[in-house]
This record gives sequence, structure tokens and C-alpha cells, in this order.
Amino acid sequence: MNDGLMNFVLIDNPLIKRDVTLLRDKNTQPEQFRAVVKRISSVLSVEIAKDFELDKIEVDTPLEKTDGFKLKQQVVLVPVLRAGLGMVAGFLGLMPYARVGHIGLQRDEETLLPVEYYYKTPRDIEKAEVILLDPMLATGGSGSEAIKFLKKRGAKNIVFACLVASPEGIKKITEDHPDVIIFGAALDRELNSKGYILPGLGDAGDRTFGTL
Ligand code: PRP
Ligand code: URA
Repeated sequence: MNDGLMNFVLIDNPLIKRDVTLLRDKNTQPEQFRAVVKRISSVLSVEIAKDFELDKIEVDTPLEKTDGFKLKQQVVLVPVLRAGLGMVAGFLGLMPYARVGHIGLQRDEETLLPVEYYYKTPRDIEKAEVILLDPMLATGGSGSEAIKFLKKRGAKNIVFACLVASPEGIKKITEDHPDVIIFGAALDRELNSKGYILPGLGDAGDRTFGTL
């Protein structure tokens, strides 16, 4: 993989490639867009959970005692508003016990810098597996800022789950937060002059909520 992209894990799977194509298609309407985001998110949740640690426990089957497992750490999902909300259901499908925080960030369309408007996460996130959810990793400004907030609140084990990433965004997150691994469903070519990912899928928030 290219220099500076080592912290990026691409979920390389034919089912995901087919679904990302649906997201890219400008004719895909919000109803289908949301369903596909949910599907890809559940696959991402499985990939990310491969690195979770387990504690051994004992379980009584109807026949005898045997070894079982429970997750060592709690899971906290943190969608970045708005577009990250679309990923929550897919993650909760396989992690129904997860707690959910929220970070409200919006890119200033002139400066492309993220502006914070909301922040609420569970208090005891120090030991939790924290999964930041944002479908688009473009300049990386929003993601990097969100991770900074989470670290300020004590989060130590953070991964970033996105759908489409740009090389520029991955490099920015890696430079600012070398401890954070980024999982994504597509690695795109570049950003345009307005900070949109090419080929991308357009504005993820607008396409999710039909606000085009
Ligand atoms: C989008 C996206 C990310 C951000 C990515 O949100 O969901 O949060 O842009 O861009 P960056 O990597 O250059 O910071 P947007 O600001 O459009 O807000 P929205 O989700 O409310 O539409
Ligand atoms: N935010 C989006 O929703 N799409 C992009 O391509 C870049 C930032």
C-alpha cells in the first residue's frame, strides 16, 4: 500500500464492492442509500471486532459446563452528526449492547474546517472500545477533531469506521493520531478543490436524509 496509508484497513469483499457502487450511483434514493449504508456498516462491525479482546467465562449448557467468552471491554459507538447516524443501526445490529455517544461537527464550506455544535459521550470511555462512525473521510479535519475530543474525554482505544476514504484524509488522521486504525469500504483517488472525494458519492448527509 502507498506511503502514509498503513493505518488504513480496506474491507475488500465483492459484496461490499457491489454495495459501494449503489452508494456512488447518483440515482440511488435515500431509502436504498440508508439500507446499503446499514448493510456495509454491519460488515465493518464484524471486521473491527476481530481485534477485540475476550475474557474466558464458564457457561452451563443444558448438558454440562463449558468454556465461553465475553468481551473484555465495553463498546461505545460515536457517530459524527449528521451522516454518521446512518451507520449506527448496522453496528448496533451486531453490537446491541453498545452505548452511543454523539459528536456534532459541520465543515465550514469556505474554510473546510470542522465546527463543533454538539458533544455527548458516555463518561467512562477510558477502557471502552470506541468506534468513531463517519461515512466520509475527506480532508480528515472532522475525523481528526472528533478523535481529539474523544481523547480529551479519556478515550484510549479508538478506531475510525468510514465508508469512503481519501488518501489525504487517511494521511491527516495518521499524522495527528498515529494510534488510530481506520477501517473503510473504499479508498478513493483524491479530493476536488471543494474538499469532495473523487469519485466519491457526493454529500453523504444529504444523500442519507434526502436534503439535496
Ligand atoms: C461530512 C462528513 C464528514 C465530513 C468529512 O459532513 O460526514 O463529517 O464532511 O469531511 P472532512 O474529512 O473534510 O472533514 P458535513 O460537514 O457535510 O456535515 P453533515 O454530515 O451534517 O452533512
Ligand atoms: N463530505 C461528504 O459528505 N462528501 C465528501 O465527498 C466530502 C465530505
